Amino acid sequence: MNLKPESVDITMKSIVILISGLGSNLRALLEADMPCRVAAVISNRVDAPGLEIAKQHGITTRVVAHHSHPDRESFDSELALCIDDYRPDLIVLAGFMRILTPQFVARYQNKLINIHPSLLPAYSGLNTHARALRDGVKIHGCTVHFVTSDVDHGPIIIQAAVSVLMDDTPVTLAARVLHQEHRIFPQAIRWFCNDDIYLSAEGKVLMKRLEQPGCALVSPEMG
Ligand code: GAR
Repeated sequence: MNLKPESVDITMKSIVILISGLGSNLRALLEADMPCRVAAVISNRVDAPGLEIAKQHGITTRVVAHHSHPDRESFDSELALCIDDYRPDLIVLAGFMRILTPQFVARYQNKLINIHPSLLPAYSGLNTHARALRDGVKIHGCTVHFVTSDVDHGPIIIQAAVSVLMDDTPVTLAARVLHQEHRIFPQAIRWFCNDDIYLSAEGKVLMKRLEQPGCALVSPEMG
């Protein structure tokens, strides 16, 4: 008989992760060492491959299908009811491809974070890698931020930058950015769950324990 006490730490924060697709960020989060409990993974698509990843990790999965709702308000209401079943401290959008209503965002104010594949505020919206390549930018990247009703413009928690290479295509650039997404997303959640970050009166994310090396990424490299 196993008499070991339950290993769930009840003081730990709990999170709910929302996905729409492949779930590579979800996988990175589930494989990372994070000081929180993943209470559930919710998808707006029944065929999202990420649901299988969650199941493999023994995480409860739920589907709230957007196409069975007549409008955003009714979808968001059902989504909120589903989320609230788990009373999470944080809701994590990990490739969740739905625009959320202001009412939904207000309900989870300062408890909702998103990852976006660009260095915000540049390239909000879709097709970020192709647009960056078209503009000829030399540095591109990804951002984790708090969600506000201004889509892709909430307070920034962490960003990672990559060099744009001369022979990059949207696919090769996306792969390098995605690799960085998988690094910074768990870090942002770790900071949140350990209460290491807070929002200033001006609405900026600040760190409680500040250690900034002040390094620079120059691209292309200087001769
Ligand atoms: C990621 O690149 C994420 O940044 C992006 O969708 C992809 C999901 O991939 N999110 C957005 O564009 C949100 N605006 P994943 O399902 O493999 O994690």
